[in-house]
Amino acid sequence: MKNNLPELVDLPKIDDPRGNLTFIEEERHIPFNIRRVYWIYDVPGGQTRGGHAFREQQEMIVALSGSFDVVIDDGDESRRFHLNRSYFGLYVPNGLWRHMENFSTNAVAMVLSSTFYDERDYIRDFEEFMRCSRDNKS
Ligand code: TYD
Repeated sequence: MKNNLPELVDLPKIDDPRGNLTFIEEERHIPFNIRRVYWIYDVPGGQTRGGHAFREQQEMIVALSGSFDVVIDDGDESRRFHLNRSYFGLYVPNGLWRHMENFSTNAVAMVLSSTFYDERDYIRDFEEFMRCSRDNKS
């Protein structure tokens, strides 16, 4: 998780006939300190969330319930991750464009974030993202 690539992390899963349990410990399963947790839910069919990049925010996205796709673009190519198990976390480094789509009914997307909410951390314009991405690579 040190090479600035998105990565699907297999989280611990304690199987139990009474119901399964999964947990995340910072700096063990996640390479940053958790400053904020938010979740996206009640997404109407066909809707898209995200659609921006973060300058600093790193995050881990978990499908706590249901399923959805996270599409991540590094400026050169785009990768799609289908999240449908609550024991997988998708680590997303900063500096990548990402959006979420194909939400199932009752899907809940939990996002663990390395930063507090700050609108200045967002790049919401794709052309600006491409310019920043090119500048960072040169
Ligand atoms: P935003 O991150 O733009 O949602 P999406 O990525 O799905 O497009 O957030 C939507 C609104 O919620 C925006 O007005 C900012 C606000 N918001 C907060 O106030 N705190 C938060 O932690 C987050 C994630 C969003």
